[in-house]
Amino acid sequence: MTTGKPPQVKTCEELRHQPEEFRLALEKIVVSHAINELYGARAFDEPAIALAPTPYAKWLTCRVAMEEYGHHVRFFELGREMGIAEARMLPEKTHKRPLTIFDFPLKTWEEFVAIKLLGDLAEILQVEDLLHCSFVPLRNLARMTLPEERFHAQFGVDFGSELAATAAGKRRLQDGVERFFPITLPFFGSAKSRNNEIFRRWGIKQRTNEEMRADYLSRVAAAVTGLGLAMPSLPEAHFQKPAGGID
Ligand SMILES: [Fe+2]
Ligand SMILES: [Fe+2]
Repeated sequence: MTTGKPPQVKTCEELRHQPEEFRLALEKIVVSHAINELYGARAFDEPAIALAPTPYAKWLTCRVAMEEYGHHVRFFELGREMGIAEARMLPEKTHKRPLTIFDFPLKTWEEFVAIKLLGDLAEILQVEDLLHCSFVPLRNLARMTLPEERFHAQFGVDFGSELAATAAGKRRLQDGVERFFPITLPFFGSAKSRNNEIFRRWGIKQRTNEEMRADYLSRVAAAVTGLGLAMPSLPEAHFQKPAGGID
């Protein structure tokens, strides 16, 4: 396809008759989400249940973990229907590296709250960008997933404002934000991503990586200042050499 509007593909069966470039691009997105939703649930959400300070916080943290595992299952099932081999969508069976965002060593409740506040905000942007995807099953999956990602980011806002009510809590949360924020920037991929160009050409995604990153920065500013926290400083190095993102 060189010109004109991208196709609207309603089913996995229809997708089988589409050009290879389109099919492979969709496979990349589905594989990436299947792996990273599972990896993220294991690295952050499930361990956070032990860190949650009250039964109420544990209950909501369980819900977050349940939903993140559910996101993996949704992408994995769609991937299977698309004919993607199961091993490509499971972290322990593939050589594909999970996002570097998950290398963050989670040790405290305040860090987890910062991760929900900033990490799930990044996830919201990714899911929003699929809401008008030319592959309808993926569009529907994004529409189902978005309210849950919004709940995760709101979890960060709600427990963040609880922490920010005391000077000591606010300091610990600011510290979590400062340390987690820099590694969220490469999450949006490189400015000259060839993959992103292909995703947009086929109507899978709508925006460039740089547009998404700029939007993310303004939403981070609103989220942290809304809690009375300072905007963390921008690490220059991450802009110059983004790596480890969704691309
Ligand atoms: Fe998710
Ligand atoms: Fe989430």
